[in-house]
Amino acid sequence: MTFDRSIKIAPSILSADFANFGAECEAIEAQGADWVHVDVMDGHFVPNITFGPATCAAIRPHIKGVMDVHLMIAPVDPYIEAFASVGADVITAHVEAGPHIHRTLQAIRGAGAKAGIALNPGTPAEAVSELLELTDLICVMTVNPGFGGQKFIASQVAKVQRLRAMIGDRPIHIEIDGGVDPDTAPLVARAGADVLVAGSAVFRGGSVSDPAPYGQNIRAIREAANGVWT
Ligand code: DX5
Ligand code: ZN
Repeated sequence: MTFDRSIKIAPSILSADFANFGAECEAIEAQGADWVHVDVMDGHFVPNITFGPATCAAIRPHIKGVMDVHLMIAPVDPYIEAFASVGADVITAHVEAGPHIHRTLQAIRGAGAKAGIALNPGTPAEAVSELLELTDLICVMTVNPGFGGQKFIASQVAKVQRLRAMIGDRPIHIEIDGGVDPDTAPLVARAGADVLVAGSAVFRGGSVSDPAPYGQNIRAIREAANGVWT
């Protein structure tokens, strides 16, 4: 994975057909996705349950590019090796998931993955200030984690600006997760984000047998983020 700040669109397979993950991953990549965002939920840290390392292992061969695993689980540390060993490129843990996020980030890098740190909407930007040297990506949640299709929380845009200033020229991605669509993408792109996760706004209107809408949706978000209005 090389570092750059160009806009990357990361469809969340939380909005995909759960009976068809392999084909869905191939379809979104063929339609222009840059990364594939994989939402792992435990029914404890967040109120919803999705899937774990076995499902990640099953879909990995269907993803050519970056597999971006977002862990909404607590505890995190006992599972890092399992997600790293199935080929996650980025593993993101929540700062709110336990008392030892510093150790967690060290363990993620130690397992050979890029280390991401996610912030819930109620958590201030300053929560990461002592962690920047251990971090490859900061995920700003623009909804409360647990479900797709929620409304973008606009107050988070100022947090993105603060994080961007804090990062300076360090090679740290800023990822936005929740409620990203062509209307909200420009707000966060302008504030300094470069990875845009989108679930419902990518998968709406399409399917593996009719994937062209995925491509239209991805292009619409990217062009809006880059300031190209079509
Ligand atoms: C929320 C997940 C998100 C979610 C985004 O807990 O982390 O990745 O799938 O879905 P949309 O884009 O529909 O808000
Ligand atoms: Zn996510």
